[in-house]
Amino acid sequence: EKGSYDHYMLKEINEQPMALRQTLHGRIDGSDVVLEDFPPGSFEDVSNVQFVACGTSYHAGMYGERLLSDWGINADTFIASEYAAYPAPVDENTLVIGVTQSGETADTLEALQRARDRGARTLALTNVIGSTAARTCDDALFIRAGPEIGVAATKTFSSQVATLVLLGERLVRDVTGEPTEGHEQRLRALEALPENVESVIETTDAEAVSRRCLGDNGHFFIGRGSAFSVALEGALKFKEITYEHAEGFAAGELKHGPLALVTSETPVFAIGTGQHLNRLESNVREIQTRGGPVVAVGPRTASQLAQTADEFLPVPATHPDLVAALANVQLQLIAYHAANEMGRSIDKPRNLAKSVTVE
Ligand code: M6R
Repeated sequence: EKGSYDHYMLKEINEQPMALRQTLHGRIDGSDVVLEDFPPGSFEDVSNVQFVACGTSYHAGMYGERLLSDWGINADTFIASEYAAYPAPVDENTLVIGVTQSGETADTLEALQRARDRGARTLALTNVIGSTAARTCDDALFIRAGPEIGVAATKTFSSQVATLVLLGERLVRDVTGEPTEGHEQRLRALEALPENVESVIETTDAEAVSRRCLGDNGHFFIGRGSAFSVALEGALKFKEITYEHAEGFAAGELKHGPLALVTSETPVFAIGTGQHLNRLESNVREIQTRGGPVVAVGPRTASQLAQTADEFLPVPATHPDLVAALANVQLQLIAYHAANEMGRSIDKPRNLAKSVTVE
């Protein structure tokens, strides 16, 4: 039921604090992570991690990969349809994680099958208990976001990221015998994530800012690290429901080609996590020199970024690993309001299905 909301997508964006509370419920105990089927030691044999996924779930996997790599775990992310045809080398110490909301995406199931056939251990990170992925993988970990009706994945991305942080903490402890550096602050920030998302939703100026994006030639999204995965996700959401051209780039890649596209009619969303902000600020200036309007999204404490950009959508200052997840909520709202203003079919965009069960 949509209730008082015009669209399921808006309802599901607004449900994120609640979904995240369900995701986290009972899984953090002081400085420990408690993952029902995964007691301490469950992952002690893992030497490397491969994420396989499609679309939004691919971006969540990439987010997880950036964090795991930063914490010293060997991790890679693969587009499932590519992996199904061109699998990466694995052995019995490889953990292949299929990130899939529905647990029914054919490409992801096939990639997982390939990994299993070649002797890897497989884990389904999914929203749906009893789904094919959950049943066929060696292990399953549920994101507990509740049903998602809108074709555009919103709350499930946030819950995937939160679950991946928990899983990452468990993995690092099992593999290295030590908690991650800064795990206390990260776990406290994870506990605060639902209320921080709430604060973004309550205070956002995304609707007003989205009006600046109507009738433009293209929409670019840039970021580094976890914010790069959110740049890709922001662009996917925007193109999926507005039918306008949008593309995400690693911020540092701009000057290696895409900068040629920047004009006064290509707004650029620059996403900052709070780390390496001076680099992002110089990217912002490169864009502005070519006349491109910049909307920065980042922690409210990033005053220099806020001043440099033409518009600033702040998110609560939190652990740098979680800032991009908050920025993503601003981008969901940008896409939603732009599509709504254009009168698009938001919950069922043309040519798309919620669950892609064909290869
Ligand atoms: O159910 P899955 O997470 O496996 O679905 C993967 C993609 O089809 C899905 O995320 C798609 O990209 C969304 N419509 C994006 O909003």
